[in-house]
Amino acid sequence: MILRDSHHPTAPALRGPTVRVFDSAEAAAEYAADLVLEALAAAPGAGLGLATGSSPQRLYGALARRRAAGADFSSLSGFALDEYLGLPAEHPESYRSVIERDVIAPLGMDPDRVHVPPATDDPAVLAAFDARIGASGGIAVQILGIGGNGHIGFNEPGTPFSTRTHLTALSDSTRRANARFFDSLSDVPTHSVTQGIGTILESRRILLLATGAEKAEAVATAIESGITIDCPATALQLHENVTFVLDSAAAGASRCWPVCTAFIHIFRSTLALDARDTSPLTLATLAL
Ligand code: F6R
Repeated sequence: MILRDSHHPTAPALRGPTVRVFDSAEAAAEYAADLVLEALAAAPGAGLGLATGSSPQRLYGALARRRAAGADFSSLSGFALDEYLGLPAEHPESYRSVIERDVIAPLGMDPDRVHVPPATDDPAVLAAFDARIGASGGIAVQILGIGGNGHIGFNEPGTPFSTRTHLTALSDSTRRANARFFDSLSDVPTHSVTQGIGTILESRRILLLATGAEKAEAVATAIESGITIDCPATALQLHENVTFVLDSAAAGASRCWPVCTAFIHIFRSTLALDARDTSPLTLATLAL
């Protein structure tokens, strides 16, 4: 069930991100799966940008159900956002392994068409990864999660927005957050290769998924603060076609949300409308 459907214009020339809030992570994932299919259909031949981590897992499950219902991903190209440095490819937490387990197998993708950034600092090899994205038709829709510190991919605070795929150091907070996937904090790699913010911004569409209260502050900053390298996700305000798909907990710190909620309740009690009707028309009416 959708709880909020709104638009956050950042400046007159910028469209600003679309924000959709759902009452559960499951509902958010179902909506996100529809958005992915729509974006792929709108850009035949273009690839799917793949995030790892917890945020997109329900989405991949929803896409697997679409496959069971007839969707065919076997000729789709996929490009992962990042890869740890220093883990053997067969390590269960290498992003190559995660993508094989969570994406390639359940979606029935062709492993030869799914590319994970090479774990190297060789500039020529990293540039070749970016070039491959372009050569295979670009990205129809890039799936993103968001770090508690506002990172996208592993572009940590302070990363220039022009970056291409590059080697980067993981922040302490990122390593602590990802320690849940490893036996101990000391096992978490200190570096990764990540698509750059410039690479990400070249995607035709961007879908950022966030669930849970621990993401609320980063989400609010990404959507509502000024654009700053201190919060890499604010770079998304520069893109013309970004959708934030959130559950209500991740939307909780949004400074607009309490105001929207109050208006909706007033509107509902005045006109006897359903409080959950937050369509653009309703919100536009509220803004008058
Ligand atoms: C993973 C990635 C990261 C994660 C982010 C959130 O490929 O690029 O930006 O999306 O760290 O991780 P989760 O979803 O595990 O909270």
